[in-house]
Amino acid sequence: MSDRRQSSLSPCVSTGQLPDPALVQALLNEARERFRRIDEGRNADYIPALAQVPRDLFGICLTGVSGNCFAAGDTEFAFTIQSISKPFVFGLICQAIGEDEARDRLGVNSTGLPFNSVIAVERAVDGLSNPMVNAGAIAATSLAPGSTAEAKWQFIVDGLSRFAGHALEVDQDVYRSEAAANQRNTGIASLLQSYDRIYFDPVQATDIYTRQCALKVTARELSVMAATLANGGENPVTRKPVIDAIHCEHVLAVMVTAGLYENSGDWLYDIGLPGKSGVSGGMITVAPGKGGLATFAPRLDEAGNSIKGQRAARFLSEQLGLNLFASRPASAGGQAKPR
Ligand code: DON
Repeated sequence: MSDRRQSSLSPCVSTGQLPDPALVQALLNEARERFRRIDEGRNADYIPALAQVPRDLFGICLTGVSGNCFAAGDTEFAFTIQSISKPFVFGLICQAIGEDEARDRLGVNSTGLPFNSVIAVERAVDGLSNPMVNAGAIAATSLAPGSTAEAKWQFIVDGLSRFAGHALEVDQDVYRSEAAANQRNTGIASLLQSYDRIYFDPVQATDIYTRQCALKVTARELSVMAATLANGGENPVTRKPVIDAIHCEHVLAVMVTAGLYENSGDWLYDIGLPGKSGVSGGMITVAPGKGGLATFAPRLDEAGNSIKGQRAARFLSEQLGLNLFASRPASAGGQAKPR
């Protein structure tokens, strides 16, 4: 057992709690009302099926670590998880092979480049990136236990389903649509092979990754998944452990540095919490020890991140007092002074 592992098992963990439930619900309603009319941005269309999703859907869901769930808007609409699968798969891989080996084989530093960058792999001396961008995520998927594609897929779908609390299913239309337009990810996987940074057949690893991205979730389910990362790896609704608490810390650390790709610094500056976006319009924001926020709104900015999702996360982080970097002078009793 490493020093790091021992220290993280300390009983001294400082987090806090969500405000009064009525206030939480009122703020979710307010966030939806404030931002629902935004008509900037557009659906992703490089995966043709994503362009068909109604672009003005907008759902916000927050699940607390006690399993209580707050919802506003279109929180029962099923959409594909896309890149939001990445932190959860990384957590499952850390659990399977250990955090040190996962770091050594995938990397954990941000690339500062878009999610599907090829240059990022070329620029790193050793072909490493991080498991939030496509290169590192395909490599992470390739590390799933099992010697066949089917065994690896089962490991991933079972693990992601445990995060969600029920059996997730693939949206076959979106899967086929992405698989038919997957030249870039196939190229990235092949490049990784030239650096010995993919750990299974690159074509099959890319296919499993593509299926993982096409798993259907609702904002409500996604908030339970996010809340599991906020709750030391135990699903707060099923009360079943999914990954160890130590792995949640590592997943959240990588989300902080790379969850919003080249915009991760701006995200952290505004929101002060780990987050992860997906091109279908989903986003998660994790408040450790408090809960998981999920939003769904398909209109994206240039970097492929949901516009309404980012606005809602910022508003709710501020209003619910979630920012990890926030403090108030002790001389004021730890309370905010009116501005
Ligand atoms: O690999 C891809 O391009 C998609 N399956 C996922 C990309 C994604 O969600 C990027 N996130 N904002």
